[in-house]
Amino acid sequence: MTRYAHITGWGTHVPEKVLSNDDLSQIVDTNDEWIQSRTGIRQRHIASDGESTASMGALAALRALDVAGIPPSEVELIIVATSSPEHIFPSTASLIQDHIGATKAGAFDLSAACSGFIFAVNMAAQAIRTGSINTAIVIGSETLSRLVNWQDRGTCILFGDGAGAFVLQASDQPGGVLSAVMRSDGSGGELLTIPAGGSKLPASEETIAQGLHYIQMNGREVFRFATRVMAQATEEVLEQAGLSLAETQWVIPHQANQRIIETAARRLKYPLEQVVINLDRYGNTSTASIPLATVEAVEDGRLKPGDQVVFVGFGAGLTWGAMAVEWTGPLPKAEKPSLWPYRFRNLYLLYTRLRSGALRILRFLEGIIWGRQR
Ligand code: UT7
Repeated sequence: MTRYAHITGWGTHVPEKVLSNDDLSQIVDTNDEWIQSRTGIRQRHIASDGESTASMGALAALRALDVAGIPPSEVELIIVATSSPEHIFPSTASLIQDHIGATKAGAFDLSAACSGFIFAVNMAAQAIRTGSINTAIVIGSETLSRLVNWQDRGTCILFGDGAGAFVLQASDQPGGVLSAVMRSDGSGGELLTIPAGGSKLPASEETIAQGLHYIQMNGREVFRFATRVMAQATEEVLEQAGLSLAETQWVIPHQANQRIIETAARRLKYPLEQVVINLDRYGNTSTASIPLATVEAVEDGRLKPGDQVVFVGFGAGLTWGAMAVEWTGPLPKAEKPSLWPYRFRNLYLLYTRLRSGALRILRFLEGIIWGRQR
């Protein structure tokens, strides 16, 4: 039996706090006119003190599971694509596994910057197709506001916080993820980077004084690279899927810059009305941008089951990629009401926190007993 990987659930979470271009002009030497005309961005959402990459990702994942109509205990794999993980380790995916009570899931982070969501969906789809697992959650979640230099007007105007998630499930019905392209070119690594905080340049007074823990970018070079690869990757992924551009209903690009998206659409001779764009309200949310745009298109009725859609993105690394998908919607069995509706999420999250606390106490007690037996 041929196995297919379908996207059967989707969800997002964005922080309430909004930072407008006018707000930004109080922080750095910029203005609304410049930002809108050069990027298309009007505002972005910024995480509050209590919010983080894991907490937003967990809420997006719960919402996606609710749409798919499956409980967290059925999830076998969690991949979090992120450029702003909670820690170097443990992975943000492991923390989300605990937050949502996905007791059967293996979890890991995937680092491919803004292309990460496409790469992660492809990895989950491959695991499903081979029969290794039946159900996965892929999350793109970012708290980039904590990594930008709020004195650098070249970068701080671009980025925003938020999270999006897809549930992928196995089915013998054709459709779902049709093809994917993943590419990297590390020779452009320095064009978009956070130089310090890893093993090459560990945190020191000097690295902090030099601002090396913030995002640094050569905007013009990234722009040039992006406009080239977006069209290329789209054509390549469609060829792999045996589809023409005319057969697609939607292209959903990484939301970095309106001008990059328009240039790519022009190169492809693709109507801009069929390109999903919402960066005006969210800015560049890196790995969260494609799911945020996708979920918006599903919820407002543009993206429908049976539609052929291309996701395409690029980012630090350099990385870029595309994916052709036949949009599915929840599998038929999910029409049963879910056991733990998303509307009870606060209660549910309290339960998972208690469960996690109980596991910690148990580990502590086991440690004492083990210590005595040694
Ligand atoms: O997920 C991938 C993430 N990265 C990207 O997608 C970034 C891709 N690059 C871009 O989006 C654009 O390069 C930017 C929006 C970052 C910059 O736009 P640009 O049209 O390439 O501007 P520029 O860097 O060439 O700068 C033009 C001028 C400069 O002034 P001078 O030297 O011409 O006098 C900048 O100093 O605009 C100035 N400038 C600003 N002015 C007002 C740069 N940032 C700002 C600002 N407000 N925020």
